[in-house]
Amino acid sequence: MSATLSQLRKMQQNGEKITCLTAYDATFAALFADAGVDMLMVGDSLGMVVQGQSSTLPVSVDHIIYHCQNVRRGCGDNMFVIADMPFMAYAEPEQALHNAARLMQEGKANMVKMEGGSYLSETFSLLSRQGIPICAHLGLQPQSVNKIGGFKLQGKDEAQAQRIIDDALALQDSGADMLVLECVPATLGQALTERLSMAVIGIGAGPACDGQVLVCYDMLGISRMHLPRFVKNFMPQKGNVRDAVEAFVRAVKSGEFPAPEHGY
Ligand code: KIV
Repeated sequence: MSATLSQLRKMQQNGEKITCLTAYDATFAALFADAGVDMLMVGDSLGMVVQGQSSTLPVSVDHIIYHCQNVRRGCGDNMFVIADMPFMAYAEPEQALHNAARLMQEGKANMVKMEGGSYLSETFSLLSRQGIPICAHLGLQPQSVNKIGGFKLQGKDEAQAQRIIDDALALQDSGADMLVLECVPATLGQALTERLSMAVIGIGAGPACDGQVLVCYDMLGISRMHLPRFVKNFMPQKGNVRDAVEAFVRAVKSGEFPAPEHGY
């Protein structure tokens, strides 16, 4: 289990795959930490899987802080926790700085994550200068679901793929420390992982990424929503939560997950 960004970087450099699950409460956070997950993410997916909303848009900064506090109590101080900046919490750089500081001071997060491309460069620079670790989020950006027109594969053609590469490079130059890459062809996941110095954590981005993240309710098979093909339910083969999470960790570390059937 990793405590710091520099330990995660070392794992990346050594070719050890990084494991990440979303977490929203103390009990799951403690179990995930005990089962050997490297880092936790308090994602705004909580809007859908905890609150029962049809998108992540209604989630507020206060909601994320509340769940971060619960997660931190469960996993202890040594776990690396990424907190999502929810929809409209970072529309302006100063607003982003204020909300990121709240997630770190009140929520005790180690890093904040923001969805969006190179137009966020000024925001990333500002936060980075203030010592705030940042995770970019490219590919499928669920906060833009109304604009995209659904939860769909991104970066399909060459021009779209190039735009994602350009965005990732711009955000890395502006201070991003990590990238979550969601629902893109495996070839694009591989190209970005090879090109970027920051770690690429994939979710539906193929096996070449430096690490993998899944929504915990999805990998435990208890989500009520339609599951994308990049999800694997680890529960049936194990039968209990602890063993299923350990199986996820082992499968990511060994390169067994994601398999070709989980990719695009
Ligand atoms: O909101 C979330 O949980 C996420 C992960 C699925 C990457 O962004």
